[in-house]
Amino acid sequence: MDLNRNIPYGRQWVDNDDIEEVIKILKSDYLTTGPAVERFEQDMADYVGSKYAVAFSSGTAALHAACFAAGIKAGDEVVTSSMTFAASANCVIYQGATPKFAEINPNNGNINPASIEECITDKTKAIIPVHYTGRPTEMDEILDIAQRYNLIVIEDAAHALGALYKKKKIGSISDMTMFSFHPVKNITTGEGGVITTNNKKYFQTLQQFRSHGVTRDPQGLVNQIDGPWYYEMQFLGYNYRMTDIQAALGSSQLKKLDFFIQKRREIVKYYNGKFKNIGVIKPLNIDAIESSSWHLYVVRLELNKLVVSRKKIVELLLEEKINVNVHYIPVYKHPYYQSLGYDYKLHPATDQFYESIITLPLYPSMTNDQVSKICEVFMKIISKYMRAN
Ligand SMILES: Cc1ncc(COP(=O)(O)O)c(C=O)c1O
Repeated sequence: MDLNRNIPYGRQWVDNDDIEEVIKILKSDYLTTGPAVERFEQDMADYVGSKYAVAFSSGTAALHAACFAAGIKAGDEVVTSSMTFAASANCVIYQGATPKFAEINPNNGNINPASIEECITDKTKAIIPVHYTGRPTEMDEILDIAQRYNLIVIEDAAHALGALYKKKKIGSISDMTMFSFHPVKNITTGEGGVITTNNKKYFQTLQQFRSHGVTRDPQGLVNQIDGPWYYEMQFLGYNYRMTDIQAALGSSQLKKLDFFIQKRREIVKYYNGKFKNIGVIKPLNIDAIESSSWHLYVVRLELNKLVVSRKKIVELLLEEKINVNVHYIPVYKHPYYQSLGYDYKLHPATDQFYESIITLPLYPSMTNDQVSKICEVFMKIISKYMRAN
């Protein structure tokens, strides 16, 4: 491994087994809407322990479908986290509804249940909690709030495939759970997403929504069947289908997921051990080694102990070809959300968190040399700019 090449912050692991599975599909009768999609859905449902899974062209499409299935519409409000990728909130706007951004818990970047409750009005229909970095959020508190206010819970588990909440897999707990298979995620299908659910009605609506709102199910038809070709478009859906090419890759990747997470965990433990005595670097989730799926490795910097900014530290790491990143810019700060009138400084804990975080590279195929180079360079930069007491 050439240590002078850029080290990305995340990267897929695709090996010969995966490639062979994809080639089989390319030589088969179905490239899309075929048996590989159903197989991947069954594999996902079995893995997380849900009754149903529906595959989509992306995690964003899956979130949109979940909002539709939940009946979210114009005039409704949905509470989500401020510390997430914009898609967690955009899906609400796709349905003509309004996202409300809750404050986070600065210890782990997850949504703060007390703040969810403060966001609730008589228009609130759902909560979209995000398992930030793969660390499961406080589901018991969230489900309790949902029950008290009669709200639907759609978990954004884009980061959390393989994560455990109180020994249960994320994906089997609430009304619907979304997983993403973008290449930096814990498994990949190129682009892709899945919703898992235990609710048959949601399952059927999700399937219909991803394919133009069309059904062929004789039980659910509105009009008389004209002939064997007959189908009905019953509501406005989209083409959000996953291909069999993607699904075959997904099933093959899923077999390796536990191994991928184990590799991630080993790297995390190594990082944590190195940073243990560097007061300025505060790794997140040292209390969740076994329960997090470790999509991202995020550290907080104690900026008052440094003579340079977080920006400078990031720039110095990039100069060393270590492609660190920052996850995330609080969603309400984006120009689009600003244009909708959200307060730029909506939540102080989210803002302070954002200003202090850095995401270090973490992916299963990282070599020991890469991991130790990152630690060495990062600690050298930090010690150079530490404020003298
Ligand atoms: C928290 C979160 N939600 C939603 C998404 C959207 O997923 P996708 O990229 O598969 O559309 C992502 C992925 O980037 C994400 O990180």
